[in-house]
Amino acid sequence: MRSALQRFALSHFLTTNRNPRRRKMLQHVEPMTTVACIEDLRRIAHSRVPRDFMDYFESGSYSEQTLRLNRDDLQRLLLQPRVLADVAQRSQTTTMAGQSVSMPIALAPIGMSGMAYQDGEIHACRAAEVAGIPYILSTMSICSIEDVAAAVSKPFWFQLYVMKDRGFVRELIQRAIAAKCSALVLTVDLQVLGQRHRDLKNGLSVPPELRLGTVLRIAARPRWALGVLGGKRKTFGNIDGRIAGMDGVRSLSQWTAQQFDQALSWDDVDWVRGLWPGPLILKGIMDEDDARRAVTSGATALVVSNHGGRQLDGAPSSISVLPRIADAVGSDIEVLFDGGIRSGQDVMRALALGARGCLLGRAYVYGLCVDGGAGVRRAIEIIRSELDVTMALTGVRTIAGIDRRVIVD
Ligand SMILES: Cc1cc2nc3c(=O)[nH]c(=O)nc-3n(C[C@H](O)[C@H](O)[C@H](O)COP(=O)(O)O)c2cc1C
Repeated sequence: MRSALQRFALSHFLTTNRNPRRRKMLQHVEPMTTVACIEDLRRIAHSRVPRDFMDYFESGSYSEQTLRLNRDDLQRLLLQPRVLADVAQRSQTTTMAGQSVSMPIALAPIGMSGMAYQDGEIHACRAAEVAGIPYILSTMSICSIEDVAAAVSKPFWFQLYVMKDRGFVRELIQRAIAAKCSALVLTVDLQVLGQRHRDLKNGLSVPPELRLGTVLRIAARPRWALGVLGGKRKTFGNIDGRIAGMDGVRSLSQWTAQQFDQALSWDDVDWVRGLWPGPLILKGIMDEDDARRAVTSGATALVVSNHGGRQLDGAPSSISVLPRIADAVGSDIEVLFDGGIRSGQDVMRALALGARGCLLGRAYVYGLCVDGGAGVRRAIEIIRSELDVTMALTGVRTIAGIDRRVIVD
């Protein structure tokens, strides 16, 4: 049930914004032509979405050292210019987890992306579909598997967290099969939750618990409030009402602490493998031995990832461990990558160091915050165009033609 404060805030936004001119004004979006790069989207996102949610999207755990390293270590890698290589015909097409993609990118699973924009997961999935790349729906999404499946025409990928209630996990896998999801991404690096100080201080909860400070910050973002708070989906679509212990637990970290399973082991990977008939991708591998073990698990791919700097603070950047992991597994398993990708140049760096493809996290969430599906499409096109120019200027024509010579020693 909504509190009196929540009811007040909601009715205030809905009544003051019934005027069509004001609604139009609220829906005005800075023309996408002025958006030249992902950083532009990030800047505008902060003016669109209340601070509590931007903090949630932006934060890393604890001191945010690993969050910073993800970006800094990518930036340190210099690209080698090459000339006179006839780069007139270039293509970014390739495959990820055995599926054809128009560029080596997938949209990463982002919990609560429906708090960036109304029905955010549906908009992001449609944008990925238009772009010809995979979209990965998080277990912790606002729109449910079924909501998204009903709104799109091509299969998406589903990201799974293994919770203590294995009956519920089995049910989630069956729902993903019924929705014709074409790959399962099993995230293995969230056995406990790394604390994000800003979420703790903001008292982040879903739907937002409207304390006075939150109400004031939401009041400063009326377009967001009209869409997200005025919409019908405001809680965890895959979970709400289906899992014991969720009712009455408002705080995300409290609930996560209760539900995520610290006893998770390779036996659980085998168990999931037995239930899921399609490609299985293990997300959150940062160690060479774990990568070698992933090969024997029957997974199709692994994602070198430190969860966008949100789990083990003090861990190395994902780009710094990528070459070792790629060397350790060779061609025995596909190596995907995420962490800090904000440009096509970054994608080039990761591919050069052994990744077959990259997951975009915050880079597309900024677009979603700015303008829903159009913003996500813009983010994807920025990355596509930057990668295209980078390929030309480093003298490569195809994704298969990218190798370590692209990086300056
Ligand atoms: C706001 C936010 C929510 C996330 N939620 C999930 C999630 O539900 N499941 C998951 O496997 N990873 C999740 N991640 C991690 C991303 O899938 C991805 O690994 C990370 O964002 C990559 O780093 P980048 O944002 O720097 O690109 C989340 C990341 C962020 C920033």
